Amino acid sequence: MEERDRELYRIAVRMLTKAYAPYSGFRVGAALRTGDGKIYTGVNVENGSYGAAICAERTAVVKAVSEGSRDFEAIAIASSGGAAMPCGICRQVLSEFEEGIRVITGESEEKLADFRLSELLPYSFQLDPERK
Ligand code: THU
Repeated sequence: MEERDRELYRIAVRMLTKAYAPYSGFRVGAALRTGDGKIYTGVNVENGSYGAAICAERTAVVKAVSEGSRDFEAIAIASSGGAAMPCGICRQVLSEFEEGIRVITGESEEKLADFRLSELLPYSFQLDPERK
């Protein structure tokens, strides 16, 4: 794992204090890096209406896209409960922008693993496959 990937993970870890998870108690932090090196962070934001919870990864994606960045290169995920893989909805949302994005996760900086989104979500849904 490259140093800049470990740094991305450390940023995700630092975000854990900002997670809003009073219902599950499961904190998640994400750090999303673009091709030009910008980093967008996110946390999970839960709600008393449980289904309205937003995952950390999607928080980061929405922040990036709304700031004009879509060229996603890698996303690091940290959680209060060990290595966390992105949920199915987050995989689909990431695939909208970059099917080749690298997903970096692990229970600690010393035990990181990385995956291509295309291996975590092969054959993702695309409304218009011709659009890309
Ligand atoms: N969660 C994330 O933030 N990312 C995921 O990929 C899976 C789950 C959050 C949602 C909820 O606030 C908590 O983890 C427990 O499911």
